[in-house]
Amino acid sequence: MKMNNNWWKEGVVYQIYPRSFKDTTGNGLGDIDGIIEKLDYIKSLGVNMIWICPVYASPNDDNGYDISDYRKISEDFGGNEAFDRLLKAMHARDLKLIMDLVVNHSSDEHHWFEQAKQSKDNPYHDYYIWKEGTPTTIPNNWQSVFNGSVWEWNAPTKEYYLHYYTKKQPDLNWENPSVRKEVYAIIDFWLAKGVDGFRMDVISLISKRIAFENVPQSMSFIDVMEKVYANGPRVHEYLKEMNREVLSKYDAVTVGEGPGVNLEHGPRYVSTKEKELNMVFHFDHLTIDFGPEGKYDPVPVDFLRFKEIFSQWDQALAEDGWNSIFLGNHDFSRIVSRFGNDRKYHNASAKLLATLLMSLRGTPYVYQGDEIGMTNVAHPSIDLYDDVETRNAWKAAEAAGKDMNQFLKAVHWQSRDNARTPMQWDASMQAGFSTGKPWIPVNENHEQINVAAAENDPNSILHYYRKMIAYRKANPSLVYGHFEDLLPQHPYLFVYKRWDDKGTFLVGHNFRDENTNWEQKELGYKMDIGNYATPSSQFLSPWESRIYRLV
Ligand code: NOJ
Repeated sequence: MKMNNNWWKEGVVYQIYPRSFKDTTGNGLGDIDGIIEKLDYIKSLGVNMIWICPVYASPNDDNGYDISDYRKISEDFGGNEAFDRLLKAMHARDLKLIMDLVVNHSSDEHHWFEQAKQSKDNPYHDYYIWKEGTPTTIPNNWQSVFNGSVWEWNAPTKEYYLHYYTKKQPDLNWENPSVRKEVYAIIDFWLAKGVDGFRMDVISLISKRIAFENVPQSMSFIDVMEKVYANGPRVHEYLKEMNREVLSKYDAVTVGEGPGVNLEHGPRYVSTKEKELNMVFHFDHLTIDFGPEGKYDPVPVDFLRFKEIFSQWDQALAEDGWNSIFLGNHDFSRIVSRFGNDRKYHNASAKLLATLLMSLRGTPYVYQGDEIGMTNVAHPSIDLYDDVETRNAWKAAEAAGKDMNQFLKAVHWQSRDNARTPMQWDASMQAGFSTGKPWIPVNENHEQINVAAAENDPNSILHYYRKMIAYRKANPSLVYGHFEDLLPQHPYLFVYKRWDDKGTFLVGHNFRDENTNWEQKELGYKMDIGNYATPSSQFLSPWESRIYRLV
């Protein structure tokens, strides 16, 4: 039953990484009761949806992105009973729940794989992707996202199986109609329970190019992702089928994670005519600082390109489809460290990014902790990093004889653990996250940056987020209105217009540590909201943001 389908356009999403959010048992791991405890806080931000990273049963090779039972909530997080209470508590507060759906791959400890690997005759064998060979002849040169070959040898069947991520995350064979049926039944199980939608993990990768041809050595990993792993020949057929078979029966929201989804492919995933997904997460702006050797070879952010990406995607989906607006999540560095200045202009730059998120066309996503300006960490040793991706990249760099001091700097800049340190609730020893030893160290700056301190400071980033979210809600032109970049060639300013028949707005951001000359000369505008108390008429201060309204 389709009802009002605007709730996911007009609202704002808050993303939770459960293991780092709030621990109520003292075992150092966040849990579902911790989320329930903080629902009033989340509600107070003004958001209306919460996306929860995977909480299913999992051996946690990749922190829950390796699922061993799709209908079971991990006991670590409180089990199905706790989940049912969470759903009820959220709905009582008018908050929608978006689950993570990880169906490009399962865990190797899922009973499907445990059977599949035993023999070629096993009915589950064809649930995964196999290639015959010998232990020394790897089927092709494809590299896993987490380093090393995508192929792992399975002695009992004398075959390799495919895994785009770790070897404990075997890729499911979507060519097999039984696999697709299983997935739709899982989706139906959770939607029938009352969940409100799904964020679909690496959904752009589900259809494989089954010739498995070698990729040229010269191809960058971003290119391989786009042209070889993602956007496979049957992906749109599968998504249409999924929509027809299950999603269309509910008023649910879907956002597909889309590595390799570019401007050429993106619109097709979200076109209302195609009937596939509502939104995708593309990574054009979040891979912008990847250098020739990838993520751990970072280059400075090209600001003109950064702005251009937002313009291009806005334009691409202006008539049909819908954007998701985000600057980070559990897989990337902290937004204030990456795109702002997390030292001298911590307060102003975090607020600028909040203004940016809330003034572009699309649905904004706020990742836990960004609303208080949580920052990157810089651990002195790799031993303090937990993330399988970071650790594998480290091993590969060591094996390649790289300068490891330099590499540690890159880890400080790019590790996914930057975004996974425990949520900073107060100034106490473990930041109020846990009474035990957290699974990953808390950021030392929790004594200054925490929710309790922010609540008491009228000038805090937290209060500004609340104000900006409310401002967006009160002004639907910021949700639906046209977008035009007015100074696309300016090296420091991002200035754009948003308008429709209900209102016209002019937004200006200064993305640097210096004042930048800027006079708002267009007639009839009045300043409505901004992150500086006393704005100048000649320039924008460091990391200043303003929104003017035509009156
Ligand atoms: C994207 C998820 O966000 C990330 O955390 C995970 O490692 C990969 N997909 C594999 O599932």
